[in-house]
Amino acid sequence: MSDANAQSDARPHSPEWVVMVVSSDAAGKPNVMPAGWGMHCSGSPHYMAVSIGYTRYTYECIHATGEFVFAWAGEGQADLVEQTGSTSGRDIEKFEEFGIPCSEAEVIAVPLLDGAASNLECKVVHEYASGDHAIFVGEVVATHQPDPPIRRLFNFKRVYVVAVAAAESD
Ligand SMILES: Cc1cc2nc3c(=O)[nH]c(=O)nc-3n(C[C@H](O)[C@H](O)[C@H](O)COP(=O)(O)O)c2cc1C
Repeated sequence: MSDANAQSDARPHSPEWVVMVVSSDAAGKPNVMPAGWGMHCSGSPHYMAVSIGYTRYTYECIHATGEFVFAWAGEGQADLVEQTGSTSGRDIEKFEEFGIPCSEAEVIAVPLLDGAASNLECKVVHEYASGDHAIFVGEVVATHQPDPPIRRLFNFKRVYVVAVAAAESD
């Protein structure tokens, strides 16, 4: 494990929805990493924010291109979260290595993640320094929802679960 990934072991794994942050490097090679620190941060205009450690390859990619896909991880993607969260795009081509299915985006030059609960194409409008992470705020320029819908994945201390309505859990 590289130093960049060793840092992830030290971060608090509080309950959080998992975001798959997809990016491409300046040469167009795609990469993906899970992030627990992602959220909606403006309704109109529609902005999403992700907090990305400066050591992540993803940081280099988004800083260079100004684009990312904010994909809520979907039910069935728990293994993918672990695979892509313990390796770096600096060392491997994750999409090839893990056989990750993807599709072409409409507006930006970053692929969409098939099997995600939604894919939001984002163009960076702000980058804020936040300690050892950078917060990228992206304006959503295209939205993709699967049909039928896919449930979002929740991280509870590295156990991945989905929320089920009380009526469904009987
Ligand atoms: C469930 C989970 C949540 C994570 N959340 C974040 C996060 O919010 N921000 C971050 O910088 N790294 C986070 N990480 C660590 C990165 O995903 C990890 O370091 C990844 O290997 C970086 O890949 P890259 O070098 O290809 O960008 C998380 C890892 C896991 C498994």
